[in-house]
Amino acid sequence: MRRPILAANWKMHKTAGEALDFVYALVPRVEGAKHVDVVIAPPFTALDRIGRVLAGHGLALAGQDVSAEAEGAFTGEVSARMLADLGCRYGIVGHSERRALHAETDALVARKAAALLAAGIRPIVCVGESLEQREAGRTFEVLGAQVEGSLAQVPRGRAEEIVLAYEPVWAIGTGRTATPEIAQEAHAFLRARLVARFAGSAERIRIQYGGSVKPENVYALMAQPDIDGALVGGASLDPTAFARIVRFEAEKGGAQ
Ligand code: PGA
Repeated sequence: MRRPILAANWKMHKTAGEALDFVYALVPRVEGAKHVDVVIAPPFTALDRIGRVLAGHGLALAGQDVSAEAEGAFTGEVSARMLADLGCRYGIVGHSERRALHAETDALVARKAAALLAAGIRPIVCVGESLEQREAGRTFEVLGAQVEGSLAQVPRGRAEEIVLAYEPVWAIGTGRTATPEIAQEAHAFLRARLVARFAGSAERIRIQYGGSVKPENVYALMAQPDIDGALVGGASLDPTAFARIVRFEAEKGGAQ
């Protein structure tokens, strides 16, 4: 079975000191959650401060982005090797905010994913349609093209290392979560595309859902057959809320 993966994407929140306070508050709340992978993606400036503490408690560190280049005159950029050096085991690429605000294309996302793999880091590759695209009936066309383009450089032999994150843009930061059924429909479509691309290993690739995930809705989402985890923004900033998401089974029967 696929091991659930619950990831916190803090975006541009928390100083290094605040990040450390969060980790100390989170650790006792998630002790015992041994059958899931817990991933924290702080801003780059907090990676070093919290990396060792997380590792000591079996929690994984992630970058929120990475340069597609290995090294050189790229002011402001951070390479995959630098992330690996600080202990990052995962790296988010292709988040919709990067795609929209920094004009990142599928081709660039593919290069970033390849850069992470080359450094031994597992890419969390984000895809998702906008509200306009969904309302125009183009959801599957958009997702298909994003998967094809963004995973273009992942060799079949390393497919299991990637995590795909389905994040409908209309659900991110809006409080408007996809229903479990809508999310499952998209995840099943993505799984089929992974099978077409990677054959047998596709069944072992984890697909996370992201977009207004909260303690109140995480259980119903995780109960879907093709939803293997969550990529959490807003609710991951609070250690109590994120711990409840990590321990999603305990939320069974909770209010939606
Ligand atoms: P949200 O963000 O949980 O605040 O909707 C999710 C994400 O952007 O990864």
